[in-house]
Amino acid sequence: MKDFRKDFPLFTNIDKQGRSIAYLDNAATTQKPYAVLQAQEEYYKNKNANPHRGAYDLSIEATKVLDDVREKTKRWLHVPIDGEIIFTKNASESLNLVAYSYGMTYIKEGDEIVLAVSEHHSNLVPWQMVAKAKGAHLTYLYLNEEGRITLEEANRKITSKTKLVAIAQVSNVTGLVSPIEEIIGLAHSKGAVVVVDGTQGAAHLAVDLENMDADFYAFSGHKMLGPMGIGVLYGKKKYLNEMPPFLYGGDMIEYVEEQSTTYAPVPQKFEAGTQNMGSIAGFGAAIDYLEQIGMSQIQRIEEDLTRYLLERLSSVSHVNIIGSSSLENRIGVVPFVVDGVHPHDVVTILNKDLVAIRSGNHCAQPLHSFLKVPATCRASVYLYNTKEDIDRLADSLKGVRRWLGYGA
Ligand code: ALA
Repeated sequence: MKDFRKDFPLFTNIDKQGRSIAYLDNAATTQKPYAVLQAQEEYYKNKNANPHRGAYDLSIEATKVLDDVREKTKRWLHVPIDGEIIFTKNASESLNLVAYSYGMTYIKEGDEIVLAVSEHHSNLVPWQMVAKAKGAHLTYLYLNEEGRITLEEANRKITSKTKLVAIAQVSNVTGLVSPIEEIIGLAHSKGAVVVVDGTQGAAHLAVDLENMDADFYAFSGHKMLGPMGIGVLYGKKKYLNEMPPFLYGGDMIEYVEEQSTTYAPVPQKFEAGTQNMGSIAGFGAAIDYLEQIGMSQIQRIEEDLTRYLLERLSSVSHVNIIGSSSLENRIGVVPFVVDGVHPHDVVTILNKDLVAIRSGNHCAQPLHSFLKVPATCRASVYLYNTKEDIDRLADSLKGVRRWLGYGA
């Protein structure tokens, strides 16, 4: 097995005790390999000009970078012929684009929008905004005792009144994979459009948008080894072509007169202003890096790490995994609490041992209210993690309660 850590410069940082970080907060953001950093630098050193603006070679070359990465993204996600890729700054912007442009145009008074209670705020707050503005209702899919979204619940809640379903492919808190294709099929049978938050999905699973049949699919580059500041929105052209622009200005127009404007075709209609070209170049390199390993191999590596993470967390007394502790239909994101210790204190104590995990509500407050826990700790792995990182987490966790004065 290749030592992927060698590809990531951050892990060459060693502290006074000779340790590199046990980075287990990959659901928040991932580290960047040399290949991604080099692609960003290469763009600015040798290809930098404003794409779509110039008739000279350098601008044409910059445009080619943009077009090539768009095509690569389409191939990687198996985007069907009737679909298009739009670059945004992150998944939140992608989801806001759909809410403002599709939601504010097509959702009407009395319509229902169905969401999972486990949604990240990015795929929840924009729909609250639409529902308030349009007089629509939000209906939530609640989770079973394992923390999963079930088809029974989806069948109960998705009805002929449902106009839109907004749902994550994988929860950023529980790490559990939703039965997304079945939910999309059900929503379509009721005439509803489906917006999938793929932020935790695209990084860890082989995504095939042709099979999935989502109407919109959003994610961020930075959670899949790419730079921050680049997000993706996939949409079916039959919707994108009819939707109004989200942001207005340069590069998204066809003709501008004093009193009116016609817009450029999709995708430019939704890409106002100069794009984040360095991050787009880096994002293309991230796809290359992942493709070279292969998503099925990445899934195998992560499954092995997740099995070990679940085992080790279960072996530490006073640590309680929240939701499912099974490996089935999940990625390597595991929430837990430590008896009698606030998650922020847990993370602060782990930090002394150079172990990094996240605490809080993970931008999913309705989920935490539903679970009746104010906050959780969350460990999340990616392909460069090792069993030693997980051992360091478990060993450090063993000391948390003692540090706070508990007997054991
Ligand atoms: N959405 C990111 C997370 O889940 C920040 O941690």
